[in-house]
Amino acid sequence: MLVRGKMRLAETGVNVVPVPEHIAIIMDGNGRWAKSRGLPRFAGHKRGAEVVRDMVKGCQELGINYLTLYAFSSENWKRPASEVADLMGLFRLYLTRELNELHRNNVRVRFIGAREGLPGDIATLIEQTEEKTRRNSGLNLVMAINYGSQNEIIQAVKAVAKDVEKGRLTASEITEHCFAAYLETADIPDPDLVVRTSGEQRLSNFLLWQAAYAELAFVDVHWPDFTRECLEGVIRDYQSRERRYGSSSK
Ligand code: IPE
Ligand code: IPE
Ligand code: MG
Repeated sequence: MLVRGKMRLAETGVNVVPVPEHIAIIMDGNGRWAKSRGLPRFAGHKRGAEVVRDMVKGCQELGINYLTLYAFSSENWKRPASEVADLMGLFRLYLTRELNELHRNNVRVRFIGAREGLPGDIATLIEQTEEKTRRNSGLNLVMAINYGSQNEIIQAVKAVAKDVEKGRLTASEITEHCFAAYLETADIPDPDLVVRTSGEQRLSNFLLWQAAYAELAFVDVHWPDFTRECLEGVIRDYQSRERRYGSSSK
């Protein structure tokens, strides 16, 4: 059985591995899911958005504190304009329709990724969503939209260079800890578990710095078919691993 959050742990006093504090998911396989059913890719993306709703609930119930979802990469602009437009339409719909429900459920929603490149109304919706949910204390939902980790790192390096130029920082003060504060994820703990659905085994420019010591799980299920059981499965697998961070095994 899964241990649902820290409360339960304290109550039982049982020495078990807690659920990950932060799960990050590369939601892949929408297109293949649709294709295998003779449906347009849009149908896969639409179904994928419904799974997001379910995963948010699942993570809340399991006592996960942070859930990061990779929804659109900075490389996804390479797709046909019609697919990009479909995806933007779904973000619009999701952000409009789900906001009240997320807020009611005490979810704090944040976004990582370059906002400048997004349609203006979506950038506005992002700001409104962050503002409205800013004081919520439940699940932290981080949506990665127009996100690319290499670009995030470059932006951080530029900001560090500027601070050095201005005399606010010296080169010797730059540590891993200090650098992480320049990333978009500054106040978000590193992911404990990075999951990728659909069988691909790569990070595709996702949280390259932050996932330095994450456990990785590659699941052979397309995102639209990812269920609560799948989520519980990857968490159970995570709980069975020994995280060593470079030290000797027990
Ligand atoms: C993930 O599914 C959604 C996005 C990347 C936006 P894909 O659209 O990549 O689906 P596949 O990988 O082509 O099956
Ligand atoms: C990664 O999936 C991005 C998202 C899930 C949003 P892709 O389908 O774009 O990745 P590649 O192209 O297969 O590496
Ligand atoms: Mg894909």
